[in-house]
Amino acid sequence: MKEQLEKIELAAKAELEKISDAKELDDLRIKYLGKKGELTAILKQMASLSAEERPVIGQLANKIRADIEEAISARGSELKAALAEKKLKEERLDVTLPGKLQTIGKLHPLNAVMNEIEEIFLGMGFDIAEGPEVEYDYYNFEALNIPADHPARDTQDTFYITDNILLRTQTSSVQIHVMENKKPPIRVISPGRVFRSDAVDATHLPLFHQIEGLVVDKGITMANLVGTLDMLMKRLYGEDCKIRLRPHHFPFTEPSAEVDVLCFNCGGKGCSMCKNEGYVELLGAGMVHPKVLANCGIDPNEYSGFAFGLGLERVVMRKYGINDLRLLYENDLRFLDQF
Ligand code: PHE
Repeated sequence: MKEQLEKIELAAKAELEKISDAKELDDLRIKYLGKKGELTAILKQMASLSAEERPVIGQLANKIRADIEEAISARGSELKAALAEKKLKEERLDVTLPGKLQTIGKLHPLNAVMNEIEEIFLGMGFDIAEGPEVEYDYYNFEALNIPADHPARDTQDTFYITDNILLRTQTSSVQIHVMENKKPPIRVISPGRVFRSDAVDATHLPLFHQIEGLVVDKGITMANLVGTLDMLMKRLYGEDCKIRLRPHHFPFTEPSAEVDVLCFNCGGKGCSMCKNEGYVELLGAGMVHPKVLANCGIDPNEYSGFAFGLGLERVVMRKYGINDLRLLYENDLRFLDQF
């Protein structure tokens, strides 16, 4: 029986060496020390021993049981430590690695400049008005003194939904909505998208942005228009910016003008950017035509007003020296990141 016990001890210890996880360790404990285990089985045979042998074998059995228990618990600690070590290694954080660059988005130059222009006008006491992009012919043309057969329609061909409904070609349509809904004094700007059926090139796109301005009150004159635009341009381009008005024709303003700004690139001397003009064209403007006021139920004998329409893309291109309109719409981050 002594040898049997010693064999069990040796076998248990040999098996212990090969154990690699807690489950196996538990199985081993049951196999040797459990109620139906090998050691227990031997102890059950103790009854057959002589009175002298019994305490000797009993002692030995207890010692072996204690030894195996100790070995199991030692192996258990080893396994635990190894597991912890492995986990530590796997989850190790190398604080010396370079960080990951967090790229932060920013506004598209069109949005940034649009916001800037809105701020300037809000500062001058203007409200912001919105109008629909899908518009009735009446608001886009007819009420703006551009009847069906007017040649001005040729330069503003657009996309028609029906004969009577179209994508607006100009934010001037919002002038009509505003004047129909509100009586003077009126002081609004209306930024938004406009559409024209133009072929795509460096200066034309079928979709672009305008910012309309409209002021109607008693005693409004061309001087108010010039003062407002002068202020806008100085805020946008700096204090030395100058504007120049050239006579022009729009059916919905009388008199009408095209407004140029001093070329920021050459300061007026003439360069390739301004085609040697010294000035670059930025917007159309004029005094609201009496017929347009009357179309909206405002008495032209009592009130007068000025209006302007600014091309946002042009402002952005002049501001940043961009020479191709398409760049603004390609969403190439290498380009956009420069602003
Ligand atoms: N709507 C005109 C255009 O798109 C610009 C403009 C607006 C001119 C207001 C005069 C007054 O060309």
